[in-house]
Amino acid sequence: MTVEHFQAPNDGALSPKMLTAYARDGVLVLENMFSRQVCEALMTRAGELVDGFDPDVARTVFSTTIRGQDRDDYFATSGGTIRFFLEDGVLTPDGNLNRDKAKCINKIGHALHDLDPVFDGFSRLPKLAAVAQSIGCAQPLLLQSMYIFKQPGIGGEVIWHQDSAFLHTQPLSVVGFWVALEDATVANGCLWALPGQHLEPLRNRYRYIDGALTTEQLDPEPWPDDGKIPLEVPQGTLVVLHGSLPHRSDSNFSDKSRHAYTLHLIDGACVYSPDNWLQRPNDMPLSGF
Ligand code: FE2
Repeated sequence: MTVEHFQAPNDGALSPKMLTAYARDGVLVLENMFSRQVCEALMTRAGELVDGFDPDVARTVFSTTIRGQDRDDYFATSGGTIRFFLEDGVLTPDGNLNRDKAKCINKIGHALHDLDPVFDGFSRLPKLAAVAQSIGCAQPLLLQSMYIFKQPGIGGEVIWHQDSAFLHTQPLSVVGFWVALEDATVANGCLWALPGQHLEPLRNRYRYIDGALTTEQLDPEPWPDDGKIPLEVPQGTLVVLHGSLPHRSDSNFSDKSRHAYTLHLIDGACVYSPDNWLQRPNDMPLSGF
């Protein structure tokens, strides 16, 4: 089994073949959606944000001696801000960074698309709106954004998951836009997916239970490793991920970074579950394109 790669349509309007592939596979790969210049502009902007990042706060939160509750809060309240998350293994036993701060960051999240002018402009490009419309998202709302670094040598693994397990709506509606800002390969930790398995029900829910961030197992069956497909894509590719599609990525043990920008949409006609891990502050309503 393979996943077909398409040339991105200039205006983002998907062809019938693309729509058929997305419905069948739960993933759609659109190469050359963005130019090198556009990708580099986002990378430059991320670099500026990192320059302004004071590692002291995150250093405390990610220290292994800190209560899990503080780390949970740091995540849970990040839906309406721009926050930096550290890789595992970048703190010395006394809580200092063991390398340059720019090489310690796992990701920035989760409201870049609303709070940073450069990411706002990119996230609301008409051709992204056209992709959302093509796949039937009637009333798209831009829920969360992440800049993912996948640092050379240490960029951490992300295990099999379905995005709707985190960003749950009733009915399910989340769609992921994953943009390769650099070439993504097996060596530097590209996405892997199980095409067609988006038709399966959710196997987990990541939600608050009695005030605690909890992983609720709905089906103990692990995702099968056979049938997994690496999504090796060049810089500028847009990968559209159905919210129920299982996907993962390996650690990056290569010497090349694998920067990516992701945006998650939900349909405004659906109800965002009030027990999801990530919540937006009430004074920051979601908006569309
Ligand atoms: Fe994901």
